[in-house]
Amino acid sequence: MIPPRQIQDVLDAARIEDVVGEFVTLKRRGVNLIGLCPFHGEKTPSFNVNPARNIFKCFGCAKGGDAVTFLREHEKMTYVEAIRWLAKKYGIELQEIERTPEQLAEIQLADSLYIVNEFGLKHFQQQLFDTDEGKSVALSYFRKRGLREETIRTFGLGYAPDQRDLLIRDAKNTGHSLDLLKKVGLCSQDGSRDFFRARVMFAIHNLSGKVAAFAGRTMSSEKTVPKYINSPETEIYVKNKTLYGLFQARKAIRQHDECLLVEGYMDVISLYQAGIENVVASSGTSLTEGQLQLIRRHTDNLKILYDGDAAGVKAALRGLDLALEQDLNVKICLFPDGHDPDSYVQEFGGEAMNQFMAANAKDFILFKTELLLEETRHDPVKRAGLIRDIVGSIARIPDPIKRSVYLRECATLMEVAEQTLSAELNKIIAGSIRKKEDKAARQPGRASDSGPFIPGDEWPTEVPPMPSDADFPPDQPFPVEPGEPRRQTRGGAVQERDVIRMLIQYGNRTLEQEQVTVAEYILSDIGDSLDSFDDPLYAKIAIECQNMLLSGRSFDHHYFIQHPSAEVSELTINILSEPWDYSPNWEGMWNYPLQNQKMPDLNFDLDMKQALLRFKLLKVNKMCDQNLARIKAASLAGDDESMMRYMKVQQKLLATRNDIAAKGGTVIFPK
Ligand code: GTP
Ligand code: MN
Repeated sequence: MIPPRQIQDVLDAARIEDVVGEFVTLKRRGVNLIGLCPFHGEKTPSFNVNPARNIFKCFGCAKGGDAVTFLREHEKMTYVEAIRWLAKKYGIELQEIERTPEQLAEIQLADSLYIVNEFGLKHFQQQLFDTDEGKSVALSYFRKRGLREETIRTFGLGYAPDQRDLLIRDAKNTGHSLDLLKKVGLCSQDGSRDFFRARVMFAIHNLSGKVAAFAGRTMSSEKTVPKYINSPETEIYVKNKTLYGLFQARKAIRQHDECLLVEGYMDVISLYQAGIENVVASSGTSLTEGQLQLIRRHTDNLKILYDGDAAGVKAALRGLDLALEQDLNVKICLFPDGHDPDSYVQEFGGEAMNQFMAANAKDFILFKTELLLEETRHDPVKRAGLIRDIVGSIARIPDPIKRSVYLRECATLMEVAEQTLSAELNKIIAGSIRKKEDKAARQPGRASDSGPFIPGDEWPTEVPPMPSDADFPPDQPFPVEPGEPRRQTRGGAVQERDVIRMLIQYGNRTLEQEQVTVAEYILSDIGDSLDSFDDPLYAKIAIECQNMLLSGRSFDHHYFIQHPSAEVSELTINILSEPWDYSPNWEGMWNYPLQNQKMPDLNFDLDMKQALLRFKLLKVNKMCDQNLARIKAASLAGDDESMMRYMKVQQKLLATRNDIAAKGGTVIFPK
């Protein structure tokens, strides 16, 4: 493993022109270098290398990135290979982290536990396939339940006969240590008895397909015998981070971009056998955060399949909020009375199962709303609790766009005004932001003060905090717009983009006066209005930055260039390559000698503060417009009381707007 600090050293040392220059002939043009693009055929060069920003970008085929991107794309290296290659080129000796003796011991222990489990699996399989008792008792049981031999092998099913120490004796004969058998829970702690007896066996695999644990199902219908028993938790088996079937389902989950979640081992196996392979089980417990994160690594879409009884539904509801917090899109599909996914698919087949799910899966929030509505149909008091319950769930969704869509739909379903719900939502969100802020109190910069507004119940959360006077010397003008390069904007306004640009490009630079980083400054200033970004991509980036700061991680543009989301890395490249067309002829355009005017890279302090002001101005203007519409509506409705209230709000908004404008040195004409 390469220590993170050394990776940073390598990235800092890498010169894009050197690296690209090894593969492409470059000619200087102004401050940039230019050449024929190695990624697409061309006769006139549109491949640019910018040494100042340390990135390349082809204006013909739109490929771009840093030295690492170049090596990955051009030389098909992995990230780590690229880092090693660069380290070698720049003579940086990588001190790969050595494992401590404790870590080595841990790895060895884990390895030996896997080996014992592997032995256990073989033993149970032998008992199942190669003994008369196994064939007549266990194999016939699996067959009766509709499983084919191929499936039985894929899932590592087996048999533990009703004998005192069959497995222990087998282990001794094959040289496996009793200590390890005890450790993985295959025998009793005194080493005298097998743990699994008279049961059909299910191997529980880890993500790479090694056997981490076992479950054993009794074949008797005797109520006093527990139906399933499981291996104990060990170093290699952590229950709440394990999902049964994930190893087998992984590929299909990615292919379908959806994960089906069922309750039981048999549900997983039967669905898989019927060709519905993207299925995992929580094994009877309610979903844990760790399990959800596992799912999240493979897909954003979760469909929970439950038997239609009351207990099943309640269990489903419990898992819901946690899943929403993980930003999963959650659907639920209930099965008709008396059926679970296993029995349904065994009776009707995979095709019918898919059709059933297509017809019956419901969005989880809407499902919950309908279910609770039904429960409280004739009880207005319970209704109020219902609203709080539903909005509480919606508040867990990190994505503000999704939240507002749900708000609208639920308002319609519950036949209440959307504003009633959004007021409730704002209260909840404000509460949780306050909690987060308490946690983040150690963060430098101003705590975001509440600003001059008196939020009424109807007030949206997007109130921008006021800048504090000390931060903005009054004599600094906004940059002159005509001189700015043309930008490709997305959904959000250029003001939003500028804030994101500052975060990406200069986020880790330190402000001289304040002694905090640009990112810390920005996020302590507008951190609690991040959901007022109109463009969801910008919001996502800003929130990610905030989370990284809160968890004490720093980031720079390399992080965003190599971002797993293609959208983010593409935006980053575009942002980083923007000022190119104005840097070379800076002097001509601004008619200003370079010695007196700082290059943009050195001017980021002022640049950032003005970007923040423009952002706030945009938001306040929007709020003015919205409030104006309210005034009009109230006036039309003859609701004088509301009208007066909104007028007061408008006065405050205008005052704020003028204040911001004054700080930026621009005059705003009253609308
Ligand atoms: P079949 O009844 O054979 O169809 O098994 P199933 O996998 O469908 O089990 P069921 O629906 O009864 O229960 C769902 C899951 O809950 C099981 O797969 C187990 O993970 C878990 N479970 C059920 N009964 C027990 C039990 O007695 N002990 C433990 N530890 N887990 C159980
Ligand atoms: Mn079942």
